[in-house]
Amino acid sequence: MCGIVGYIGHREAYPIIIEGLKRLEYRGYDSAGIALFDGTSLNVSKTKGKVADLENCVQQEIPNLGHIGLGHTRWATHGVPNSVNSHPHISNSGELVIIHNGIIENYAALKQELISRGYTFKSDTDTEVLINLIEDVKKKENVKLGKAVQIALNQVIGAYAIAVFDKAKPDEIIIARLGSPLAVGIGENEFFIASDASPFIEFTKNAVYLEDEEMAIIREGKDIKIRKIKDDSLVDTYVQELQINLEQIEKGGFDHFMLKEIFEQPKAINDTYRGRLLREEAIIKMAGVEDNMKKFLNANRIIIAACGTSWHAGLVAEYIFEDLARIPVEVEYASEFRYRNPVITENDVLIAISQSGETADTLAAIKLAKSKGAFVFGVCNVVGSSIARETHAGAYTHAGPEIGVASTKAFTTQITVLTLMALRLARAKGTISSSDFRHHLLELEMIPKKVEKALKAEASIKEIAYTYKDVSNFLYLGRGYNFPVALEGALKLKEISYIHAEGYPAAEMKHGPIALIDENMPIVVIATKTPHYEKVVSNIQEIKSRKGKIIGIVTEGDKTVRELADHVIEVPETLESLSPLLNTIPLQLLSYYIAVMLGKNVDQPRNLAKSVTVE
Ligand code: M6R
Repeated sequence: MCGIVGYIGHREAYPIIIEGLKRLEYRGYDSAGIALFDGTSLNVSKTKGKVADLENCVQQEIPNLGHIGLGHTRWATHGVPNSVNSHPHISNSGELVIIHNGIIENYAALKQELISRGYTFKSDTDTEVLINLIEDVKKKENVKLGKAVQIALNQVIGAYAIAVFDKAKPDEIIIARLGSPLAVGIGENEFFIASDASPFIEFTKNAVYLEDEEMAIIREGKDIKIRKIKDDSLVDTYVQELQINLEQIEKGGFDHFMLKEIFEQPKAINDTYRGRLLREEAIIKMAGVEDNMKKFLNANRIIIAACGTSWHAGLVAEYIFEDLARIPVEVEYASEFRYRNPVITENDVLIAISQSGETADTLAAIKLAKSKGAFVFGVCNVVGSSIARETHAGAYTHAGPEIGVASTKAFTTQITVLTLMALRLARAKGTISSSDFRHHLLELEMIPKKVEKALKAEASIKEIAYTYKDVSNFLYLGRGYNFPVALEGALKLKEISYIHAEGYPAAEMKHGPIALIDENMPIVVIATKTPHYEKVVSNIQEIKSRKGKIIGIVTEGDKTVRELADHVIEVPETLESLSPLLNTIPLQLLSYYIAVMLGKNVDQPRNLAKSVTVE
């Protein structure tokens, strides 16, 4: 978490850093800060709150001058969000400046050591310890800043993406990464540093992504030199051409990124299967699967590891893989899996699902599975992310940048990729007939149009949102493929509206949650036409007898549920295996409108961050 931005070059650093921080606010937004050096004075401004609050402070406090600067938007780990704990942090001498994303785990021991040698600390952060450690090394060893950073980082345990500069040498920024992303935009005699490329895409399309355990010395007007932190060996600089554009990271007329991303789903799903689903030839082409077909076909089982919404996509995949390809699947919370001493063998395949590709727990699960010899396949959205690089093979979701903290298009595109994989494997194993396979391809190709249709229910969903916006609890029920959709609907509501919500398999209701039902409890029931339809209708009857308020997600033209429910939201008909792709849409809109009506910050809900790079 935390977003970091730096600039060195011929332009004023201030506007570049402030605009860049705004684009990275999805990574953390409890406090923000900036340090600018104009050749004479170092101007630092920090505040609790958002980047907009920082802008106000800067205008009152410091001149916006300087061609070198570092900025930070924070998701607090060590120390409460306030101006003292926010970054940048300055070393005791007042010479060195740092911004940091990550956690220095052995900071307490390092701090004690530094205190014993006379260092003092203003903040509660691990970052202030790191910058003083660098200063200490620089003085003791009498080395340049780059060398001091390298020596200091070799004493550190934890995760970091850092940028550091020295007032005495303002033509140079040192950066390093281990476990947190870091990109460098290469312009004409200028460099941009950021947690992802979004802060600099209007300035340059050329970027270098630092790998774990690498650091770089960036010299204004000169070059970037990348070295290994461990042994100082030089690494080749690989400049990539960026594929994203400004339009993709702007709201494009929508009030919030979340709404924009909900409405982008028809295109996103299409982009996910484009070039992979060849309906006329009746084939699915996925290089990562094709090249490793034997691994999949010989696998004892597939383990899926993920967190949050990606974990829900994994649960949907469990149904698809078992149902279509007849491969046993276990779905694991990456955070539990990594510490459970799980039984993993060389004949297991682990699929890691992650929108950001940076989630620390998912990365750790991957490393664990690799260490036991399992084959690891990644399903990521962010191209070049840590998980994409750490896995043996993978498939991108191609959803485009997802900026709203609540995941929407990432979920449906993950399901699309996993469906394609399941279908491909089913065909290879012969567990699906040719006609069934063709039918799936045809239906999958029709999903974007059907999502468009499902989105048309927006106005009636708004009315439902208005009716229930003031309740304190919600229940979400679904069966089979749609049980994970119920979980996802509840998570969406919780995270952006702060209303308590729980998802359950519909039939589990009678084993406990039914006690919660009274005339004040809204219950969203996914009751589309699937083989469990009649059973779900019985569950609806049970709710009705207890006076619960029923919001039914139904297939177009449904009459039975309409008669029983207080509200219905129609979605087009599709195959059961594809129904999560449609049934999710009204749940996303419902949570969005409830949160908007409650005046919540939809894109940046409290306490959350888009990519969770700490444990
Ligand atoms: O980037 P990832 O998919 O690995 O992120 C996993 C979760 O942190 C994420 O899905 C989170 O639950 C979202 N806020 C859900 O909307």
